[in-house]
Amino acid sequence: MTTPLGPMVTVTNVTRVFRSAGTAVTAVNDVSLTVPRGEFLAIVGRSGSGKTTLLNLIAGLDQPDEGSVVVDGQEVHRFNDRQTTEFRRRTVGFVFQSFGLLPLLSAAENVDLALRIAGAGLRERGERTRELLTLVGLADRADHRPYELSGGEQQRVAVARALANRPPLIIADEPTGELDSTTGAQIFGMLREVASQGVTVIAATHDPFVMEHVDRVLEMSDGHLLPEGEGHLIAEQRRRRGDESRPRTDVPPVRR
Ligand SMILES: Nc1ncnc2c1ncn2[C@@H]1O[C@H](COP(=O)(O)OP(=O)(O)OP(=O)(O)O)[C@@H](O)[C@H]1O
Ligand SMILES: [Mg+2]
Repeated sequence: MTTPLGPMVTVTNVTRVFRSAGTAVTAVNDVSLTVPRGEFLAIVGRSGSGKTTLLNLIAGLDQPDEGSVVVDGQEVHRFNDRQTTEFRRRTVGFVFQSFGLLPLLSAAENVDLALRIAGAGLRERGERTRELLTLVGLADRADHRPYELSGGEQQRVAVARALANRPPLIIADEPTGELDSTTGAQIFGMLREVASQGVTVIAATHDPFVMEHVDRVLEMSDGHLLPEGEGHLIAEQRRRRGDESRPRTDVPPVRR
């Protein structure tokens, strides 16, 4: 399944234009990007700059008008429906701003569902679900439904679910967008641990403290991906980082 050599993600001259009602919005404009295996990459940028569109293209949720997207040695931009479905099951784990848990299922059932969809057997599912909930520090909340959990706890379940099938890539779109800064730091710390175990993590975020956790921050502006080190938000983050020290919070250990 995995190619031993080569980067996890290679995006080459990708453009995505949305056309509707006579207007055309170039959401992603000639973007090229290489993400090495095991990197934790953050993409920042103002609202509408194209972050979600780029993540969707990498995740196989959308197709580019021009350019190529290669993930884990697979040409995502050429996939048919069956290949896309398989890719989303095996290669990519998703974490969304709004957690995306099924409200009628418990924490354990939400994680189990991802394993079941991928065809795992009953015993393996039970063991893996327990392992994952332990990993995110929620073993004692396995039977709780999302409404009985805090936002941060729900997002931890979502991280467990994203990791369920051991994908080599995690795509997180504003994973801390609905969380307070302390809880957000915990989620980023957890993703940091995941990346340290060799999983590639790409997160779009507005979180000004993201630099503390990631290997690299890139900024999008008006559909363009700016060269490393450039961009207003990155400059602002650097200034704040110099000005402030931030209390660190403990994060449960991550084992895979
Ligand atoms: N399905 C669509 N149809 C038409 N235009 C779209 C569509 N999706 C995105 N766009 C436009 O593409 C541009 C980039 O949107 P995108 O959602 O990628 O931005 P973003 O950086 O994720 O913003 P935010 O920080 O608000 O989430 C915006 O101008 C948006 O209006
Ligand atoms: Mg977005």
